[in-house]
Amino acid sequence: MELREVIGNRRSIRYLDPDKPVELEKIQRMLEAARIASHFGNNNAVQALVVHRDTATDEQIASLPSPVGGFQMQLAPVVILWYIQGDAMDEAGARLRELVACGALGYGPDKNKELEETLVPLFDNIGEALKAPGMVDMDCGQAVAQATLMAFEQGLGTCCQGSGGWDKVEAAFDFPASCRIVVAQTVGYPLENPDAGGQRPRLAFDKLFQLNSIGNPFPRSQEVLDELEQDKFFQPAAPLPKREEEVEAIRKKYNLPRSGMI
Ligand SMILES: Cc1cc2nc3c(=O)[nH]c(=O)nc-3n(C[C@H](O)[C@H](O)[C@H](O)COP(=O)(O)O)c2cc1C
Repeated sequence: MELREVIGNRRSIRYLDPDKPVELEKIQRMLEAARIASHFGNNNAVQALVVHRDTATDEQIASLPSPVGGFQMQLAPVVILWYIQGDAMDEAGARLRELVACGALGYGPDKNKELEETLVPLFDNIGEALKAPGMVDMDCGQAVAQATLMAFEQGLGTCCQGSGGWDKVEAAFDFPASCRIVVAQTVGYPLENPDAGGQRPRLAFDKLFQLNSIGNPFPRSQEVLDELEQDKFFQPAAPLPKREEEVEAIRKKYNLPRSGMI
């Protein structure tokens, strides 16, 4: 499947097969994709703890349900806890030196002077502030997005899981105080059809994107739309026929609650 088709077909998969284990190699490929995603200052603040339902303790598994995605967490053979390691920001200077040394920033002959006198002190000064939710959470989004596409390309389904507070989970998995979970990601083989009932609604393109000024919608070319259509980027809109019946059958088989999903 070409990248465009992967992007267009990716859907949040909430119904995962609890009885079909996921090969750790497939999870590794997701993590490899996350590792090479862009990171602010190349700080590698985004890290992940993979929870493998078959080998985690009962107490750890019981700590997982969130108010919204409880049944999803319990069905999923794998839950990836994506977290920010705040201590990574303390190494910002070292990461910048690596970036300059490998030629990424394109400084001239005076590169070390520039680096030590301006960039490193600047990053040292903002390091503490960067540990707070904000820029580093964007790193997390980049990492999870790449991991998600890699999962989909391997036939896996995933869904991000939010929570009002991760304290219980952080305690159950002995996270150090410097770490905070941003999001959990359920991973497994889909119980539902991988199209998950079709493309979920989005606001209109011209409501979302602008060119040069806020009041000026970005021009949407029909030619580009036709090209993407040809590449199977666009998928039929949800709900597809028989979607309700499909989900109802899964709920019945696994005795799942009717509510509790967004
Ligand atoms: C950061 C984040 C947190 C999310 N949390 C939840 C959640 O707790 N429960 C859930 O069922 N879906 C959750 N989702 C999935 C979204 O609801 C979903 O992406 C959205 O409805 C669009 O559907 P799609 O991903 O299939 O295109 C989350 C998505 C993101 C990006």
